[in-house]
Amino acid sequence: MSRESSTQSNRLDSGACGDPLLDVSGLVAGYGATEVLHGVSLCVEEGEVVSLVGRNGAGKTTTLRSIVGNVVPSAGSVTFDGEDVTGLSAEKTVQRNVAFVPEERRIFPGLTVAENLRVGQLGGGETADPRDPEEVLAEFENMRDHPDRKGAALSGGEQQMLAIARALVAGADLLLLDEPTEGLAPFVVRQVEDLVTSLNAEGISVLLVEQNVQVALELADRHYVLDRGEIVYHGTSDQLRENSEVMDRHLGVTM
Ligand SMILES: Nc1ncnc2c1ncn2[C@@H]1O[C@H](COP(=O)(O)OP(=O)(O)OP(=O)(O)O)[C@@H](O)[C@H]1O
Ligand SMILES: [Mg+2]
Repeated sequence: MSRESSTQSNRLDSGACGDPLLDVSGLVAGYGATEVLHGVSLCVEEGEVVSLVGRNGAGKTTTLRSIVGNVVPSAGSVTFDGEDVTGLSAEKTVQRNVAFVPEERRIFPGLTVAENLRVGQLGGGETADPRDPEEVLAEFENMRDHPDRKGAALSGGEQQMLAIARALVAGADLLLLDEPTEGLAPFVVRQVEDLVTSLNAEGISVLLVEQNVQVALELADRHYVLDRGEIVYHGTSDQLRENSEVMDRHLGVTM
């Protein structure tokens, strides 16, 4: 392993993306007078699963919100497929086939599975490539046989899968997943992992935010470690796994 994986040399480096699908550069953002992100750079190549890991309050969700335009950055840029989308509204970002599945999942509890998916279809814009809800549903073992179940009747894992399915219906090329396994039982975590793996095999790129480092190591090819609004480390799964200092100091994982 080269010295490149040391904390210091990776501080300013977003990693090597020759032809990035998503390119985030020097993002500064926050809430009111409070700056939360102090220059975050990262990239995702087409076909990759990339993780953004870090402790509570590190700024992971704020990074995703800034990418989709829910938070308007005060500096830096976000490009998607070569197009500058910095500060574009979330609606417009969806039209560029970027889908954000937030922490709180936000499915409609009063609507059925099928209705939730139809709402997802409305989200896609002109440039989006919406998929047939039936076709998407067919991929989801837990739900395909019960399209009439209400959102509120679904388990946490099923709600997570429905939220992801809805993003797919809108025609996403890039999924931004915010802690998709949070609060789920281990066997359901496995199901979500399998889902992400199979979507990626279909060509969907993923930026995965996780506090569960094991899930991130399992799923992602490369990892960015965020600490107090700064990327403090970037590396492959093997590099991160072997870096006990980063694991311990920035992720709170004792090796
Ligand atoms: N709407 C908001 N208004 C003001 N401050 C906020 C808001 N949302 C988040 N923050 C603050 O911004 C910082 C980063 O929060 P963020 O939610 O991005 O962290 P996170 O890494 O996603 O954490 P977690 O793992 O707990 O989800 C925290 O200090 C948080 O208190
Ligand atoms: Mg968060």
